[in-house]
Order: sequence, then C-alpha cells, then structure tokens
Amino acid sequence: MKYNFDEIIDRTKTESSKWDPATLREMFGEEDALPFWVADMDFKVAEPIIEALRKRVEHGIYGYSVRSDSYYQAIIDWTKRHFGWEIKREWIEYTPGIVPAVNYLVQALLRPGDKVLIQQPVYYPFKKSVENNGCHIVVNELKYNGDFYEIDFDDFEDKIKDPKVKMFILCSPHNPVSRVWTEEELRKMGEICLANDVIIISDEIHNDLVYSGNKHIMFGSLDDDLANISVTCTAPSKTFNLAGMQASNVIIPNRKMMLKYREQLERNNIGNQNPLSIVAVETAYREGEEWLEQLLQYLEGNIEFIKKYLAENLPKAKLVRPQATYLGWIDLREYESDGKKLEELVAKKGKVGFDGGSWFGLGGDGFLRINYACPRALLEEGLKRLRKAIVCKD
Ligand SMILES: Cc1ncc(COP(=O)(O)O)c(C=O)c1O
Repeated sequence: MKYNFDEIIDRTKTESSKWDPATLREMFGEEDALPFWVADMDFKVAEPIIEALRKRVEHGIYGYSVRSDSYYQAIIDWTKRHFGWEIKREWIEYTPGIVPAVNYLVQALLRPGDKVLIQQPVYYPFKKSVENNGCHIVVNELKYNGDFYEIDFDDFEDKIKDPKVKMFILCSPHNPVSRVWTEEELRKMGEICLANDVIIISDEIHNDLVYSGNKHIMFGSLDDDLANISVTCTAPSKTFNLAGMQASNVIIPNRKMMLKYREQLERNNIGNQNPLSIVAVETAYREGEEWLEQLLQYLEGNIEFIKKYLAENLPKAKLVRPQATYLGWIDLREYESDGKKLEELVAKKGKVGFDGGSWFGLGGDGFLRINYACPRALLEEGLKRLRKAIVCKD
C-alpha cells in the first residue's frame, strides 16, 4: 500500500503534548507557536497497526493484560532481521519508556554519589535521570568538525578512568547530532569501559531511523564481553510513531544485572502494560516494514528540502549532516551564538517551537533542533517562520 505522508492531520484536539496550547505557552511563551519539538511524528501510523487496534477496541473489554510469547518473538525476530543480533527471550524486559528505564537502571545499578558519563550535546533527560537519583554527570563533549560530530577519545578515556565513574549512557544513534556510530567507534568506547569496569547503557530508541549509506550496530551485538557489561534499550515508539503507547524493550544479557533491574521494577510495581499497547507493538514489529521503508524515503526528502531551503534563504545556517533520527541539528551561530537569545527570538518573532540547543548542555548554544517528521507543507511553514525571525533580528 502507498502511504500519503503529505496529508496534514489536525492533532490539536487529541491531547497531543506537542500541539497543546498550554504546553506551547509554557515552553515557548506562545500558544500558537508551530511545533517542531517533542519527538513524535505528525503522520498516521501503518495501516496494519490501526486495523489491529480497531479490532481490539471493538472487543470492548480492556482489563489487565499479559504479553504473550508471540509478543516477545516479534521483538526477537525484528532484532535479528534488522540488526543480525540473536537475542534471547530472558534478556528482554518491558518498561513503559526508555527514560523510565534509564532512571530504574541508575537506581538499580549505582549508588548515590556515583558518576555517570554522558556525551553532550545530548538528549537532556539523561542528565535528569542521573541527578534525580543522587548521582552526578561527567561530560565528554562531542566535537563538531563543521560537517558532523566526532568523539574526543582522549577526553573520554581520561574521564572514564575516574574510579567514581560507574556508568556511561550512550545515545546511539545520537540525538540531537544525528550520528550513527561506526563499529570502530563503538568498540573503542566499549573497550575503554570494559577496562575500567564501567557499565554501558546504550539508548537505541532511534535505531530503525537510519538513512542511506549508514549502518546501525546494536551495542550488545558487538561481542559477548561487551554484551556482558551493557544494557541495550530499543522501542517501537520513534520508529512507528507509538510513543504514547508507552512500551520499550530493555535488553540485558548479563543475568546478574537483569536480576537487579527486575528487583527495581518490582519495588515500584512496574510491568503491567495496557492492552492496546500490546497489540500495537506486536503488529508494528510484525507488519510495519512496508510503512517504515516509505517513511524513511519521505524523511530523506524532508532533509533535502531543509538543506535547499537553508541554502537559498539562510545561507549562513547549516544542517549538521543527518545520518539518523528525524531530528535535525541546525547550526545558527553565525546569526546568533547566544543560545537563550536565539531561542527567544525564534519563539517570539517566528512563533515556531524548536528544541533550543542550550537544552542539550555543553556545545548546544547557537543551535536549534527541528523535528522534521511532518508533512512537507508544515516543514516549509516552520522554516519560513525561522527565516522571518532571523531576518528581522536586527
Ligand atoms: C534518545 C532518546 N531516548 C529516549 C526518548 C524517550 O523515550 P521514552 O518515551 O521511551 O521514555 C527519546 C525521545 O525523544 C529520545 O530521543
């Protein structure tokens, strides 16, 4: 079936966080800001998912539900088909989201006062997940070479060697800089962590959204030693636009680590999943491929559209080379390098809601993150508003 990603669907009356006027007012000071922030898509999900949900809704009873063997098999099969990694049923744990999972992992595997390495600019809830639980972040800042971002390995190793550093949270592919890490980079980070007894949490929520010419490698698939010190988190939420269904897969091959994690979930009575979510997840992994292929083509078209628009209208702005995710990282430092000023200007004068670069920590000032998983006409309007804000700056 051919999907129409150009269709504009009104989300304003669906309790969407991204489009909610009160939330927009709180985030951007403008309730009519056109939203390109929260990472979900303005596209309808794959038809088989809608069909399966319709059938389940019509059944009419939505009581406590369990995940079947077939649910887990769908995750196992997807992981093997797409990434060549053969995971076992007992390595997989359900958690309502990856951010909750990261919090539970910090609680289960660390003690207050321990340090956790992150690579800013990075998805900002990582910092919160560490600090909310009495631990401290250490930052290995990523380096921008004018085209894409790279890892400063000397700094990485120096920081990992601090005996207080017990965990590294890797974002793979990376949000917001849109890097797909190579096997060499992953192994190098892994070896340094292995040599220093540091656990790796690899957040791979964006791992299916990878563009031509790039190959995502799941961290736990590298080798048994690295699998043994790592937790790999995946989910259908970004891939299939199911974030509100609240389902993620936490993969822990190390049995001792898995037991600690499960104890933490039990202490909080986490584990029940709602019946619609169960149906949506299994159907997505079993029948979502056709939709995903078309989605990726459309997103590549949106990337080309952004590049062309910036070249013609904001020539001093640059889209950092997108390798994965539907989140574009735009360098606007030549127009305004003060992060807060840039963000206020764009929200107030442009009436458009992008994630501010400063939200992502070190190295984020002067950048904006645009969620381009939307119909092209909306994207064009967002870019026009960005241009208007920048042009009327002075
Ligand atoms: C890297 C990364 N991790 C986690 C999440 C959110 O995960 P969840 O909704 O499963 O908590 C996002 C959402 O944008 C993300 O970009």
